[in-house]
Amino acid sequence: MAAAAASWGRCFSPVRLCRRAWRGSNRHYRAARCNELKQPLVIEELAPRPVLPHEVRVDVHFCGLNFADILVCRGQYQKKPPLPFTPGMEFAGIVMETGADVSTVKEGDRVVGMGSFNNMAEQCIMDQKTLWKVPEPVSLRDAAILPITYNTALMALERRARTQPGETVLVTAAAGATGLAVIDVATNVLRAKVIAAAGSDEKCKLAMQKGARWSVNYSQGGLKEAVRKLVGDGGVNVVIDNVGGDVFLEALRSLAWEGRIVVVGFAGGTIPSVPANLLLLKNISAMGLYMSRHLDQNFPVYYETLASALRYCQEGRIRPHLGAVFKLEEVNDAFHYVTQRRSTGKVLISLK
Ligand SMILES: NC(=O)c1ccc[n+]([C@@H]2O[C@H](COP(=O)([O-])OP(=O)(O)OC[C@H]3O[C@@H](n4cnc5c(N)ncnc54)[C@H](OP(=O)(O)O)[C@@H]3O)[C@@H](O)[C@H]2O)c1
Repeated sequence: MAAAAASWGRCFSPVRLCRRAWRGSNRHYRAARCNELKQPLVIEELAPRPVLPHEVRVDVHFCGLNFADILVCRGQYQKKPPLPFTPGMEFAGIVMETGADVSTVKEGDRVVGMGSFNNMAEQCIMDQKTLWKVPEPVSLRDAAILPITYNTALMALERRARTQPGETVLVTAAAGATGLAVIDVATNVLRAKVIAAAGSDEKCKLAMQKGARWSVNYSQGGLKEAVRKLVGDGGVNVVIDNVGGDVFLEALRSLAWEGRIVVVGFAGGTIPSVPANLLLLKNISAMGLYMSRHLDQNFPVYYETLASALRYCQEGRIRPHLGAVFKLEEVNDAFHYVTQRRSTGKVLISLK
């Protein structure tokens, strides 16, 4: 770290590096570190580095724990950051320091961010374009729930499946972080009817409290038959699948004529193959969503989708659900909590 800081100093004069000298800039900060894949994370003290002209240093209050963090720390995620690294792909906090070219935020602004690994720490450095201001009266805690799950829910339902008012949406792992965001957006923004499919009666009950019209506990039998009993032979218009494996296949078989199924994740651990004859028989569209890839592939959509989620939250149209908060030193307990399927809604790591 010291060597890196020295080489930064050679490249940029202090004035260009940083518009405001952060008073505690030489103070170390704590971060959860993945030093070895498939091993517990370690809390380490890290030395801060200077911000580049387009970068912003943020005092992190809450960092979201996503299923992707678990996968990346096992080496099973699409992106494989070099070891050692700090996981955490989204956060809410307060701007501490801005680089010389930063024009979008200033010191003291409340912000959320997503777009890189390194957020499970007391401070992080972000490109200014991957920060959004948090509007009043949205709390930092609620804001921290939004970035990944609500961007995913909005893109899956609106951009991919083109969900229409009155349509029926089946969502799997419905009481999870992404699942509850899908219920919230489908019900309260798009005025669709939701069937929540989850792995326990308690999770089904929560999904119903959050706006689902019906629920199915798929640990107790066939999903397709349970859905048929609810909506008849016609089937559902849209499936948002977070689980994969047999759950995906049963959900695919539950679709109506011209139904759409969006592959969001494989939390169950099995990547299914799509029987193409099922697509032909009912004019079905099967599609994927890789939300975070929009950062590189379609930045306006990436940016505007979270801006709209923040606006919906400000207007009270959506109500993000916090499942649990763990302290930074409890980060491994938080990981176990999610992998053991005990979590509902979003799990946050508190840095305060
Ligand atoms: N494509 C994208 O851009 C994108 C974005 C965000 C998330 N995702 C994916 O969406 C899925 C959900 O993510 P999340 O962060 O919202 O997680 P989560 O729902 O909070 O937790 C995962 C849930 O998946 C279900 N599950 C089924 N089989 C499981 C198993 N063998 N082990 C663990 N969980 C299992 C559990 O719910 P039940 O007990 O109810 O089955 C569990 O609570 C993940 O696969 C994630 O990678 C993808």
